[in-house]
Amino acid sequence: MPKFNPSFSTRAIHVGQEADAETGAVAVPIYATSTYVQQEIGKHKGYEYARVSNPTRTRLEKNLASLEGGVASRVFASGMAAINAICTMFKTGDHVVCGHNLYGGTPRLFNQVLTGYGIAFTYVDTGDVRNVERAIRKHTRMVFVETPTNPLMALSDLRAISKVCRQKKVDLVVDNTFMSPYFQQPIALGADMAVHSTTKFLNGHSDGLGGVVVCTRPEQDEQLGFVQKAAGAILSPFECWLVLRGVKTLAIRMEQHDRNGRQVAAFLAKHKKVKKVFYPGLPDHPQHELALRQMSGFGAMITFETGSLANANKMLRKVRVCSLGESLGGVETLISHPATMTHAALGEKGRKQIGITDGMVRISVGIEDVEDIIADLDQALATI
Ligand SMILES: Cc1ncc(COP(=O)(O)O)c(C=O)c1O
Repeated sequence: MPKFNPSFSTRAIHVGQEADAETGAVAVPIYATSTYVQQEIGKHKGYEYARVSNPTRTRLEKNLASLEGGVASRVFASGMAAINAICTMFKTGDHVVCGHNLYGGTPRLFNQVLTGYGIAFTYVDTGDVRNVERAIRKHTRMVFVETPTNPLMALSDLRAISKVCRQKKVDLVVDNTFMSPYFQQPIALGADMAVHSTTKFLNGHSDGLGGVVVCTRPEQDEQLGFVQKAAGAILSPFECWLVLRGVKTLAIRMEQHDRNGRQVAAFLAKHKKVKKVFYPGLPDHPQHELALRQMSGFGAMITFETGSLANANKMLRKVRVCSLGESLGGVETLISHPATMTHAALGEKGRKQIGITDGMVRISVGIEDVEDIIADLDQALATI
């Protein structure tokens, strides 16, 4: 008998999403319970208290581990809670090397919370692997990379960075939120853990917050399980269920996001009011070749330069199909202004250092009819 080795969509729909053993329900039940009846002291069915474990959560953790190619995963109350959970494994004196262009909330956590516990962070352009190698020191525990970056859409070579990390015995953690496991598989490229804001493409419907850490070693899983129990920032059963429902359509949503993303990027690249477009799918993106090697699609995230804050504001006031708001990865097109929204916490100096301007607009292209998205952007850009 050949070994049954299901592909991505089959795993998204079936792993952890098996029919309920008791009733046959095809959808995973939401186990809305805070505790579980025990048969006698120390004898129970594997579930004691819902902060420690919950069957809906167990199902989601199994599913996401499978999609990212890890051995296990742990879900948390938000993407930030997931990143924070990884960092609780560090001790005073430990050091982390990170990409210099991350989602703004990540350096906010690192610089304004975790440095207070004596953990040190060095930010480098991880687009050049030599910068990573140079920044690693004796007490470095982790290299933390986002690729493509938010909002500059710059790439880092995960295979090359993972090689350096392996040599130096440092863990590589990749925030894979922008690509989702459908288009990019950091663990297959050598990462030790992958992290996501499930709030984005994994959920896909802008109706819940969440985060996940996917592990490659059982001890990571054990440690993160302990953090769930000890610190308690777990994902509720209802929010787990929303992600379980969302991932069933991840593949077809990502295909449509990608199709629409390519067309919107091509439209923007030709528009005379747009000064620059940041999208790895465009042949003139400086790392287009790496994108072709490392990702199986280019996705929905595009940043473009309107020239000034006034221009950005003018067009953002006019959009109708695109919704002005933070976040990304939902079925609806979301458009945002990084300098005042996602990257406000970096401050003007911090943004300038890495090249985020006041005229930049970021778009998370949804799965609406692409002609409508393009027509909307066209009429909004006409006001500049
Ligand atoms: C790339 C990336 N990582 C992490 C986060 C944080 O996730 P959450 O908002 O679920 O805490 C975000 C949020 O926008 C993000 O874009």
